[in-house]
Amino acid sequence: MSGVMRTQVAIIGGGPAGLLLSHILHGNGVESVVLERRSRSHVVQRIRAGVLEPGTVELLCKVGLGERMMREGHRHDGVAIRWTGRDRFLIDAKKYTGKRMMAYGQTAITEDLYAARDAVGGQIIHEAQNVQLHDLTSSEPFVTYSKDEQIQRIDCDYVAGCDGFHGVSRHSIPGSVLRTFEKQYPFAWLGIMSATPPFPDIVYCHHERGFALASMRSPMLSRYYIQCEVDTKLEEWPDERFWRELKARCPEEMAAQIVTGPSIEKSIAPLRSFVAEPMRYGRLFLAGDAAHIVPPTGAKGLNLAVSDVYYLSRAFIEVYREDRTRYLESYSTMALRRVWSAERLSWWLTNLLHRFPNDTPFDERIRENQLDYLAASKRAQASLAEQYAGLPFEE
Ligand code: APR
Ligand code: PHB
Repeated sequence: MSGVMRTQVAIIGGGPAGLLLSHILHGNGVESVVLERRSRSHVVQRIRAGVLEPGTVELLCKVGLGERMMREGHRHDGVAIRWTGRDRFLIDAKKYTGKRMMAYGQTAITEDLYAARDAVGGQIIHEAQNVQLHDLTSSEPFVTYSKDEQIQRIDCDYVAGCDGFHGVSRHSIPGSVLRTFEKQYPFAWLGIMSATPPFPDIVYCHHERGFALASMRSPMLSRYYIQCEVDTKLEEWPDERFWRELKARCPEEMAAQIVTGPSIEKSIAPLRSFVAEPMRYGRLFLAGDAAHIVPPTGAKGLNLAVSDVYYLSRAFIEVYREDRTRYLESYSTMALRRVWSAERLSWWLTNLLHRFPNDTPFDERIRENQLDYLAASKRAQASLAEQYAGLPFEE
């Protein structure tokens, strides 16, 4: 053992969940150290979704991370659904909740978080290999890792597992304790980024050729996706083919407005729903993708990571300020209620908007009827808008 360090909360993973937790804890006088497996440039360059719920925006502003987002983010009332042969439908968050959504990429949020941690000398250890969690059910847990071929140890009071779906934290919970729930979808999303002016609205298109999505990052940065087969290879999708297929899935007047250009990034993401319960084991608390995955339809992943961190930071702050563990005890149950709501919404939207390989004409009629019902019923619209905008955090 080369070095031993001590902190209050050891945070595994320096993605949005881990960095935000560390930032909020610092603002409330709680010490933490973040251990991240990858390099900083790798973390900052990852491209992920970019639609924020009003509650996420409010929280980021409240903890001092709102300045650039309010300047550069694109506020919008909701997200449109376009469906061949039917009128445009808007999931209208503004009308039914009084609050607007925000398009602001996870990449930008991660940059803002790093800037905030740097400004106060926050400790983030990059390229920490072989992270292992120990004695989680004791009152003196610790974490080991290796860096530059030296084994290091961090003693702590609590461990926050914010290390994403492929992290080590969830796997540190014994199989006899952990229950997992999973659904794989029989398709993926092929996404591209291009330095072109985006289509003015965020639009989900349902078409017999499959789903398509127009989204944005900034006035000169567009993000588009199309549903594709799970085993799709990027080489099979030169830009020109992507644009052709995207436009074929949009209504004509929308396709005519899409500005195409060379892609600056192109990637394929499988769609999966996944939840691990409970989100706590002894002194280990899971947050974000370490505990749950949603399919990207609905853009709930980052918003859920933020709500987990809200609950978890509140719990740690209560422990150190008031010596009470009420919120720590209820963390898993409370966080999971919101997780399952987002799981249900993203599963439902995925089913509504995609074509499934074994779909029958019956399935498609049911989908059409679902959209027609939404278009006709203010109550159905209000219910969807409330969920899309995100349920409030519990007291
Ligand atoms: N040790 C240390 N760090 C690890 C380990 C490990 N064994 N395994 C993974 N990590 C790091 C990853 O390199 C990554 O930077 O943990 C971080 C987890 O970050 P994310 O995957 O971004 O997860 P999270 O912070 O929960 O953010 C959720 O990410 O996938 C999207 O849609 C999701 O927007 C949501 C957000
Ligand atoms: C995105 O902008 O990347 C995005 C938008 C909406 C979604 C998913 C992803 O539902």
